[in-house]
Amino acid sequence: MLSTRLILVTGASSGIGRGLALEYARHGARVWAVARSADALAQLPVDAEGRVTPVPADVTTAAGRRAIATSVEHEGGCLDVVVHAAGMLGSVGVPLVDYPEDEWRSVFEVNVTAVHLLHQRLAPFLERGTAPAVIGLASTVGREPRAGWGMYAVSKHALEGWLGTLAQEWETGRVYSVNPGGTRTPMRAQARPDEDPGTVPTPEQIAPLFLRLAHSDAPEPSGARLEAGAWIGRDPWEGLGPRRARGL
Ligand SMILES: NC(=O)c1ccc[n+]([C@@H]2O[C@H](COP(=O)([O-])OP(=O)(O)OC[C@H]3O[C@@H](n4cnc5c(N)ncnc54)[C@H](OP(=O)(O)O)[C@@H]3O)[C@@H](O)[C@H]2O)c1
Repeated sequence: MLSTRLILVTGASSGIGRGLALEYARHGARVWAVARSADALAQLPVDAEGRVTPVPADVTTAAGRRAIATSVEHEGGCLDVVVHAAGMLGSVGVPLVDYPEDEWRSVFEVNVTAVHLLHQRLAPFLERGTAPAVIGLASTVGREPRAGWGMYAVSKHALEGWLGTLAQEWETGRVYSVNPGGTRTPMRAQARPDEDPGTVPTPEQIAPLFLRLAHSDAPEPSGARLEAGAWIGRDPWEGLGPRRARGL
């Protein structure tokens, strides 16, 4: 269903980003997998049904964002979907009044500033895409304030604002905020060390909504704030017909 789609996923060395990169490739998409860890990216099966290009890069640096753009440019300079799954948690359980300045800056840099600056780099490629879409990874604590979640919660509130503003401005593309909900990843284990990981869904289980939104016919309106949990176990292509069959 995604065989013609060109999809870039950040945070693809671990957790949700890795799971989504593999699911997109499994459904036939051409995927750029971005993260700093070249070793972890090298473990991705590059010959899934689609094709995965590992792009080792730090999204917080100009050089990293340039390397990402160069990789896309070398392969046609066109993107249909960008999923911003790279993220940083920082301290949890520390009240704002005591929150360390270095973490304040670095968490905001990864979770918000890098998303904005990478989008500026990739926007020309998305303009050449078909039914292009940007998907941001939201959080429950980024929609409702919760004590002790520090800059992580503040940055996710800011990301919601960025995604909403882009949705208003970008008339030719779709913008989605997706809350994955608690998902079995290293970040979740860091945030909830006492939780039994077996009680939370895997990245593959929360993938259906992300697969659906990457489809050119996804009917969800731009600017929507969505919950991946609502699509666990469902057919991602529910209600979608091939564009050709619908004369599009
Ligand atoms: N897991 C959950 O329960 C949950 C819930 C709500 C929202 N989320 C959100 O979902 C997203 C993915 O989280 P996750 O749980 O999958 O986390 P994770 O397993 O810790 O993965 C984070 C990813 O971000 C990458 N990354 C971090 N800094 C980077 C940088 N400067 N440049 C490039 N890549 C960078 C990491 O790769 P490298 O270290 O190799 O660079 C890694 O691939 C995050 O935005 C998170 O806030 C997760």
